[in-house]
Amino acid sequence: MNRRPGFLGRDLAREQKAFLRRDRSRWDEHLARIRAFLGEGLQTAGLGGSALILGAGSGLEVPWALAGPGTVGWDADPWSRWRTALRHRRWPPWVFADLTGGLEALADLAWRATHHPGSARVREGAVARRRLAGLLPELDPQARPLAAWIREHRPGTILAANVMGQFGVVARRAVERAFQGVWPWTADPELPDPLAEAVDAWTARAIGSFLAVLADSGADLWLVHDRGVLFGDVPVTLGPMADSWVDQLRGRGDLEASDPLCGVQVLQACRGRAGTRCARWIWPVAEGQTHVMEALRFPPSKVDS
Ligand SMILES: C[S@@+](CC[C@H](N)C(=O)[O-])C[C@H]1O[C@@H](n2cnc3c(N)ncnc32)[C@H](O)[C@@H]1O
Repeated sequence: MNRRPGFLGRDLAREQKAFLRRDRSRWDEHLARIRAFLGEGLQTAGLGGSALILGAGSGLEVPWALAGPGTVGWDADPWSRWRTALRHRRWPPWVFADLTGGLEALADLAWRATHHPGSARVREGAVARRRLAGLLPELDPQARPLAAWIREHRPGTILAANVMGQFGVVARRAVERAFQGVWPWTADPELPDPLAEAVDAWTARAIGSFLAVLADSGADLWLVHDRGVLFGDVPVTLGPMADSWVDQLRGRGDLEASDPLCGVQVLQACRGRAGTRCARWIWPVAEGQTHVMEALRFPPSKVDS
């Protein structure tokens, strides 16, 4: 063993740096809507309430001025708390841990599958890809650190601030690192890619576990996430609300769409909870990349309260 320790913090710090360096000239509507939604969650929690913000990041999307004094940030990027302090002049309590609870195990498995036993020598690419794709279904990521923290601290309100869509991105980085410079994915999107499918299935299990922990938390839930990612320069708008975000899309021409939640339906995954609010909007993240954002609120069910 083993892949380099501390990989998650480094990967997240790199992603966050790239995120903050993007041209934000077309982000005004996104930032206004996400801050309004998360701000409403924080105000509903009230000054005396206990709130937990997952994926708190640098606080670009989080109106910390509305957060009560006991509000806790959670983000495994080691710079997130510092950046929040610089942006909001405040030093909140913080948890720096993996929200999926499974990325360490994924990175270890990827390393073992791609390397000869007891050696730093990488196996031949096709063999390594096949081995890893075959072993990945055995991993069952469980959001245990999050569940344990919630059991101990019982937050009344939990905000998931645009974090779920990143679980798959970070999982792919862990796999790519194990291949040490060899691109592990099939180049032609028309061809099957069993390894990519296995990583997507891992991501779906991680998101499902994360949402089950939130649904069982007894807290008022305010969730914002990437619901869809569109590639291409075709302008899109959203039509009237529909169950599926794809049915809401209005645009001309060919669009390539991907699902950052890897098939997880959030409403179904929050079993036993009834959503009271749902909004979607378009976020033009960058040239040729547009995200469909979704904001959902799930108040505590009667049994919980
Ligand atoms: C798209 S950014 C959200 C930005 C943030 N809401 C803000 O206002 O700056 C996603 C955040 O989730 C964090 N994150 C992603 N995956 C994580 C994981 N598995 N565990 C803990 N934090 C994670 C990242 O470090 C990043 O700050």
